[in-house]
Amino acid sequence: MDVTTLGRTGLQVSRMGLGCGGHSRLGLSNGNTEAEAERVVREALSLGVNFIDTAEAYGTEEVVGRALAAAGRDRTILSTKAGVRWKDRRTTRAELKERVEASLARLQTGYVDLFHLHGVAADDYSYAREELVPALRELQEAGKVRFLGITEAFASDPSHRMLSQAVQDDCWDVMMVGFNLLNPSARERVLARTQEQNVGTLCMFAVRRALSRPEALKAALQDLVAKGQVPAGSFDADDPLGFLMTEGGAESLPEAAYRFCRWEPGIDVVLSGTGRVEHLKENAASLNRPALPPAVLERLNRLFGQVDSVSGN
Ligand SMILES: NC(=O)c1ccc[n+]([C@@H]2O[C@H](COP(=O)([O-])OP(=O)(O)OC[C@H]3O[C@@H](n4cnc5c(N)ncnc54)[C@H](OP(=O)(O)O)[C@@H]3O)[C@@H](O)[C@H]2O)c1
Repeated sequence: MDVTTLGRTGLQVSRMGLGCGGHSRLGLSNGNTEAEAERVVREALSLGVNFIDTAEAYGTEEVVGRALAAAGRDRTILSTKAGVRWKDRRTTRAELKERVEASLARLQTGYVDLFHLHGVAADDYSYAREELVPALRELQEAGKVRFLGITEAFASDPSHRMLSQAVQDDCWDVMMVGFNLLNPSARERVLARTQEQNVGTLCMFAVRRALSRPEALKAALQDLVAKGQVPAGSFDADDPLGFLMTEGGAESLPEAAYRFCRWEPGIDVVLSGTGRVEHLKENAASLNRPALPPAVLERLNRLFGQVDSVSGN
């Protein structure tokens, strides 16, 4: 597994990160037992993945904590998060600090490498920066949080309204951004700036539903045509992205989708969320493969280069 430096943090991270949330939550959303979910984490570590992303909201911190306690916590770069909104209102500084402590307890660790404010809406951004960053700084001084991050709510903010504000500030070491072949708008709006500022980047939504399920892809493409973001008649109705396999050399759509993100300049870690060990292994192999051919990337750019209205959720 390739390793890179996560921006200004200097952390050495695997190019693939294990996402413990999303629709799968290590498979807990789809019938996995906690023991099976724990096995997914252990298998990821054995494939050379050293970056694990979880969150208070996912209900997977305990599973991750148990897996890392057995495997050696300090060999892993651990990322967790808490939302600005809590119990239907904005959380206070004191509450946030208590919530971080509770995450540490669930994760069976004294510190996390990255702590993010989770899925921050554009309207909550000023509050997050003014009110909550000082609390995170105190936790940093106490050695409980090494670096500060922020993640967007890509499904409801596919045009990056929140991160467009965050990239203007200097308080974030890392950003988690929605980016995939159907909506590459982060390239101009987020990644151009994170590269200038040496902010580490984590890519989410590489595959999600639209790039792993044919019916979801069809719905996403119909949505784009309806919104006028791609011209009607741009796709083969039966196999709209078949050219990624025939001309791109990918064996599957998820493979093409992960490779698209892996080789995007400015993206450090691509998160992959799964509850199935066979998918985990396939995805690790995909992320180790080369970039898609330039002609295929140009064709994708002609089709989706202007899209900023869908997430592929
Ligand atoms: N705002 C935020 O902070 C935020 C929001 C969303 C996500 N995230 C983070 O980003 C991570 C990545 O997002 P995501 O979990 O949605 O990841 P993703 O990798 O884009 O998509 C995962 C989905 O695709 C399926 N899948 C994975 N590999 C597959 C394969 N080879 N073939 C077919 N289907 C496959 C998974 O189902 P199976 O379980 O069946 O494999 C799962 O439903 C999350 O886990 C979370 O850590 C953060």
